[in-house]
Amino acid sequence: MGSAPADLVRTIYVDGSEGRTPRLPTDLTTLEDAAAKELTATAFGYVSGNAGAGATSRANRLAFDRWRLLPRMLRNTAARDLSVSLFGQRLPSPVLLAPVGAQSVVHPEGELASARGAGDAGVPVVLSTAASHTLEDVAEATGDRPRWFQLYWPSDRTVAESLVRRAEAAGYTALVVTVDAPAFGYRPADLDHGYLPFLHGAGIANFTSDPVFRAGLPDGADHAAVVAHWARIFANPSLAWDNLAWLRSLTRLPILLKGILHPDDARLAMQHGVDGLVVSNHGGRQLDGAVAALDALPAVRAAVGDAVPVLLDSGVRTGTDVVKALALGADAVLYGRPYLYGLALDGERGVTHVLRCLLAELDLALALTGCTSIDDIGPGLLAPPGPLATPAHS
Ligand code: FNR
Repeated sequence: MGSAPADLVRTIYVDGSEGRTPRLPTDLTTLEDAAAKELTATAFGYVSGNAGAGATSRANRLAFDRWRLLPRMLRNTAARDLSVSLFGQRLPSPVLLAPVGAQSVVHPEGELASARGAGDAGVPVVLSTAASHTLEDVAEATGDRPRWFQLYWPSDRTVAESLVRRAEAAGYTALVVTVDAPAFGYRPADLDHGYLPFLHGAGIANFTSDPVFRAGLPDGADHAAVVAHWARIFANPSLAWDNLAWLRSLTRLPILLKGILHPDDARLAMQHGVDGLVVSNHGGRQLDGAVAALDALPAVRAAVGDAVPVLLDSGVRTGTDVVKALALGADAVLYGRPYLYGLALDGERGVTHVLRCLLAELDLALALTGCTSIDDIGPGLLAPPGPLATPAHS
């Protein structure tokens, strides 16, 4: 990373005194409202929309809000290190970009701009299968920085294999298999707009560029035929635990399962040789009424112990949210919607801004809680609910 995250704060104060203020808000929880004013109703509905009545989405935020930090003082926090190790790779911070499909809906450069913007902030990308740009082009945009690939495992196994081989060849170093989407969730915003980006050709670049996918098309297939073929194979509702052995035999990349909430599924994942988990409810976009991801995290962590890395997403918005997730057992977080709003509002620069703000607040939160490294973050930083117990006086 070029500069320490807290330099952002210094830069803003110093440059601000010369009349230069940030182009986008620094309270990352306000970006959604800002993006709502800029985006079309369909685009905003696609990104912000939730499943059903939005109960799980609200629960995700409430779960973070319920926890309070109990900081420690006088611990010499002058030098701080945000870096973490995952799968033998040193990452600058415990934050990666969550896989988000069809990003051209909010900005023409979509995932390419996100990859460049994240790179400038030192944040690795998890690229979605449902990207609007090919995984090879996004690999080029990330340069020599770490990148992971999220697999939506299509029902055509030969296409699945081709995607995995291409991701390996393009230098992606982990596979994040999303398991909470055997079907699209019931999303009223998209339904009300009669809108699904993929049907308009956004988010299918990894398929239309795939030789195996293309081989399955009839000669002279037009756009409608391509989309129809994509729709036939994209979802894979029959996927089951037993299928993982095949994926394992295909690749040596670490395999993470994204969308695990139940501790029994976490145990099953261990039995099936999975290398990591992402505790997630897809940002409340799949099963409305599902438990908040943060509330599911401690039991999943307890189920797997220290055997594998456990990541979390769904509702992470601020630097102190990251601290809370780590204190409850996560090794790292995936950051979702806010970077899409940054992308929508200011392209690649907007993504960098959002991530620099997040990391600046995380870095300051370390100082303010008495930590100098990510390893220092533990359950001791969390206040129990209600007033603190009064110590007995001797
Ligand atoms: C997603 N998410 C997602 N996940 C995935 O595995 N593959 C994908 O293609 C997508 N696409 C996608 C599109 C949009 C518009 C959103 C908002 C989300 C889910 C994503 O990876 C992550 O789990 C959530 O974004 C986390 O919730 P928050 O923190 O963004 O609310």
